[in-house]
Amino acid sequence: MQIHTITWTNNRVKIIDQRLLPLKLRYEYIDTVRQMWRAIRELRIRGAPAIGIASAFGVYLGVRHWHGKDPEKFYQRVCAVADYLATARPTAVNLFWALEKVKNLIRSSLTQSVPELKKMLLSLALALLEDDRRRCQAIGSYGAKLLPQRCSVLTHCNAGALATAGIGTALAVIYTAQKQGKKIKVFADETRPLLQGARLTAWELMQSHVDVTLICDNMAGTLMAQGNIHAVLVGADRICVSGDFANKVGTYALAVLAHHHRVKFYVAAPLSSFDPNLRSGKDIPIEFRPPDEVTTFANKRCAPPNLKVYNPAFDVTPARFVTAFITERGIITPPFTAKIKKLLKS
Ligand code: MRU
Repeated sequence: MQIHTITWTNNRVKIIDQRLLPLKLRYEYIDTVRQMWRAIRELRIRGAPAIGIASAFGVYLGVRHWHGKDPEKFYQRVCAVADYLATARPTAVNLFWALEKVKNLIRSSLTQSVPELKKMLLSLALALLEDDRRRCQAIGSYGAKLLPQRCSVLTHCNAGALATAGIGTALAVIYTAQKQGKKIKVFADETRPLLQGARLTAWELMQSHVDVTLICDNMAGTLMAQGNIHAVLVGADRICVSGDFANKVGTYALAVLAHHHRVKFYVAAPLSSFDPNLRSGKDIPIEFRPPDEVTTFANKRCAPPNLKVYNPAFDVTPARFVTAFITERGIITPPFTAKIKKLLKS
């Protein structure tokens, strides 16, 4: 089954409501920028590349009915809408990357009429979607070369088709390797508290007939100690020039475990997930989410009332734990800084 996380259909944005998976595969239509902001904030659409694309469509939705004729004022409106969307979630740099592209496009095209500028905005959003699809394919091809003919990999959260416009990033590597005839067994971390691993990764891998086994997050160490994991494969929300990177909370612990057990630790991400302005992982803004995500399980309260909760959605893994980054332009091995800088400049 081909998964279309986000599409442009009949002048509307169509997304899969990922809060409902795997129990319901329901599509939702988005017509306004406010709806898009909420969809991103509430993780109906999620995953770094997907929210970048969603935000570009969001800007178009926010200005398409603007009535003025002055391109300069239109640009100001575009900036206001983009700044609003930028408040939806703080960590995935793809969101800001896409919004910057949108602003730059309009700023550099002010000789055009407003209707023309609107068309250009929509074309850009569609181009980002297509571009991401291609990046995923390339990541899959480069990454698959790293996996032996027969192996077990561990993944965390969901870095698959549901998180992108294509076949994913970390999961693209698995899909491509499987297509090449390799025998890949996947262990999916459940990924507390929102269970992106249990709900999304397990579901999407099963749709593609990948051999997937669900584990609790705290099983990973034992599996590695037993020698049952050949590689850890994760995505990323923001990668610094040094190679420090943020991904779903729990990734850091996996990286430390992998290092201890001499298991390879790969991070698959497009260049749109790299932040050329940040050197150190300490500077990555981390999203904090509501306490009830931790105090409830399957919508039922599972902790005492009035309990203090610490709920960062992401953590930062230092570059020294990364075996390699898998990008659409190839594999980056340590030392990272000069190589990442060069890649981001070219
Ligand atoms: O909070 P989420 O579900 O948006 O977190 C997503 C992740 O952490 C993914 O691993 C990351 O965005 C990479 S998706 C290709």
